[in-house]
Amino acid sequence: MALDLPHGGHLSHGYQTDTKKISDVSIFFETMPYRLDESTGYIFGLLGGLIDVCDKQKAIMLADMAHISGLVAAGVIPSPFEYANVVTTTTHKSLCGPCGAMIFFRKGVKGTNKQGQKVLYDYEDKINQAVFPGLQGGPHNHTITALAVALKHAMTPEYKAYQEQVLSNCSKFADGIDGSRVEKVMEAVHIAANKNTVPGDVSAMVPGGIRELRLSHHTEYLEVKLRERIRWACKHSYQDVTFL
Ligand SMILES: Cc1ncc(COP(=O)(O)O)c(C=O)c1O
Repeated sequence: MALDLPHGGHLSHGYQTDTKKISDVSIFFETMPYRLDESTGYIFGLLGGLIDVCDKQKAIMLADMAHISGLVAAGVIPSPFEYANVVTTTTHKSLCGPCGAMIFFRKGVKGTNKQGQKVLYDYEDKINQAVFPGLQGGPHNHTITALAVALKHAMTPEYKAYQEQVLSNCSKFADGIDGSRVEKVMEAVHIAANKNTVPGDVSAMVPGGIRELRLSHHTEYLEVKLRERIRWACKHSYQDVTFL
């Protein structure tokens, strides 16, 4: 089960429609979407409910924090590690690393069985084998090296300040503007972003969300430069965009 794409989920979590399997993940697995409470934007019955369901069904809770891992690493938003057995992230989004991914899994004692014996988590071998040799044929050493540099950077006070800036900029974005016009303006100033549906949207063409890839323009220096460029773009072609 994964969050439905039109409610902010991701294609790679097995998106399919009634008539077509869109992501191949929905061919490999029987995928089921869940949706959000449209009035609050939260998961129905709160996170606690989801944890209980996973426990009862003996399901593994996996949090894909791809979009927010930089914010998690900087400690400026709550972390999924407390709840999820497995956490995944791409490394080229808010984390600011190279194009790649990381998988974290729980190790050690999971609980005790009826005989009082310790039961251990058994994710390590399964995940490691699935990556290599299951899906990959060799290590990408250049990516691993660049990721190590990014993770070292993520431990600095400068990185934390930068992620705080990201949050503050996001609250401006959330302030009643639509993803479609923002996408156009960002494109005009050479920043790749794409509009994205969020719960409650009535049109996929004019949705309420925007997905950003590189967040380097949130740093103080680039943000000043960007504001100048966006003002320029608004003045010349997008005069109805007044959010900055
Ligand atoms: C939430 C989420 N998960 C996973 C991915 C990874 O997707 P891919 O399989 O294309 O690398 C992305 C990339 O956009 C994402 O946004």
